[in-house]
Order: sequence, then structure tokens, then C-alpha cells
Amino acid sequence: MKKFTCVEDLHNLQSALQEAAEIKQNRFKFDSLGKNKTLLMIFFNSSLRTRLSTQKAASNLGMNVIVLDINQGAWQLETERGVIMDGDKPEHLLEAIPVMGCYCDIIGVRSFAQFKDRDYDYNEVILNQFIKYSGKPVFSMEAATRHPLQSFADLITIEEYKKTDKPKVVMSWAPHPKALPQAVPNSFAEWMNATDYDFVITHPKGYELDPSFVGKAKVEYNQMKALEEADFVYAKNWAAYSGDNYGKVLNMDRSWTISEKHMAVTNNAYFMHCLPVRRNMIVTDDVIESNQSIVIPEAANREISATVVLKRLIESL
Ligand code: CP
Repeated sequence: MKKFTCVEDLHNLQSALQEAAEIKQNRFKFDSLGKNKTLLMIFFNSSLRTRLSTQKAASNLGMNVIVLDINQGAWQLETERGVIMDGDKPEHLLEAIPVMGCYCDIIGVRSFAQFKDRDYDYNEVILNQFIKYSGKPVFSMEAATRHPLQSFADLITIEEYKKTDKPKVVMSWAPHPKALPQAVPNSFAEWMNATDYDFVITHPKGYELDPSFVGKAKVEYNQMKALEEADFVYAKNWAAYSGDNYGKVLNMDRSWTISEKHMAVTNNAYFMHCLPVRRNMIVTDDVIESNQSIVIPEAANREISATVVLKRLIESL
């Protein structure tokens, strides 16, 4: 595997899930695979889980790790080509990327959607520049349109908790005061569409996702109807995708906040969220603290998804 940015990069999903289960049994089984190999993790945006779980995964494999927070201590980077650099950014990404590539064997990049230009975000300009100019295998630690390490961990978690072969999984929009990217819901939809689960997306009108990510999922605008008999409820906020509303918050209707009333119509569903989560906006205290909440095992599986991905990238060096 030379890069990891989407579900297709794993090729055979079943074998990746099997590998994840084996690594979970013994996460140090390959602890010399990464000896004398260096992982560079580059953050254009904040993180808790991705930073810690990916660093832990690298250490499981015996790698050295360098972490660079672009906004804390590094030169501010210009990302647009053709700009006259007479402003506050003294270095261009097009020099910085190959320089960073000199110091490592594998690069992880976190770079969120900026919501200034939908084409710029959806063409994954920054992530693709790393792939093109670093000379190293690159993986996404959440880019503008996808968060594949999260989705892989989500899938591992559903496989561990499911009680039927084809569970009903419902991804529900929920309110949030800020405009959040579509990376997590896009990616979750992409990974669910790669399974044979019964997958439903529910959101208010105006929050339609890019159809290429929605794929074969059912879209149900009536949230309570969508949640009926669900085995898993995956809550997430996202900003609008369509037209002039791209990147906007259109409503904060708290009737969409996942509460006990919502969970009552499900098949005693498990509650999932990628975290961080705003309590009593996305989900009530009672639901996230309930026995059916699996947000912590879901976060724990980020170490497993990252270990599988890094192992495969090291094996391709
Ligand atoms: N879910 C997730 O990616 O968490 P962080 O933003 O804290 O890394």
C-alpha cells in the first residue's frame, strides 16, 4: 500500500478487518517492522485522538515519530501556487513538502476543509500536494473530504458489536453551533457502502452530502422514521455541502439531538460518535453515558486502524 486516503486503498476490506482483529489480539506482534523507520505526522489542525492513537500505533511497530504542528512553531506555509509572497507566510508548501520528505519514511497529514472554495476542498489540494511532492508514502489523518482512519476504526467497532450479519446502521445529522466539515460523514458513508449493511442517512433538508459519497445509502428526512429498528446510531454534525450554502450552518434544531426518545425507537441500538462531541447539542448526557454508548471502544480502535495502516505502508517501503 503506497498511500491511504480512502477505503479503496485497503483493497480487500475483509482481509483488512481480519488483520485488525489479529493485531488487536497482539498489538506488538510486529514491533520490529518499523525499526529505523521514521513517521512524520503533520497537523494543520488540532487533534487529540488522531495524534495519540497514530503515535501509539507507530510505537507498536517500533517506529520513530516526529510531530509537526504547522500552526505552532513552524513557518506559516503558503499553499496557493502563483501567490506573490509579500504577506505573513515566509515559506511555500512546494519547498516545505520535499524538505519534510527528506527526514522521514512515511508522512501522515491532517488538513481540514477550509470552506472558502468547494472545488479546492473537494480536490484535496493540500493532501495531493504531499502525495505528489514528498516522494514518500502518505496517509490521511483527516483531510478535506474524508477521515479514513476514523471510518476504519468505526467499522472495526461495528464488526465487534454487531449481533446480526447485516445490521441496520443509521448516520444521523445532529446540531452544532459551528460549521464542521463533511469529512467524517462522507468517509463513514463511503465505508458503510463498502459493506453489505443496511445503511441509512438522515438529516434535515439542505444538508444533503455529495452524492458520490451517499452512493447506495437510503436517505430518510424523517429522523424518527430513519432510527426505527436501528442497530447502530452514528451521530455527526456537518455543514451544508450544496451550492451557495457550502460550509454554512443552516439550522441548530435541537429536536435532532440524539436523546433517549430517539434511542427508544431503535433495536436497543449502540450509540457511536467519532469524538470530540458537544453534549446536549449532538447527544444528551443520558445517551452518551448509557450502557449502549460505545464511543470509548470506538476511540480505542483508532490505535488498531492506525497500526494496520502503518504496517501496510511500512511493508511497501
Ligand atoms: N475523531 C478524531 O479524529 O479525533 P481528533 O480530532 O481528536 O483527532
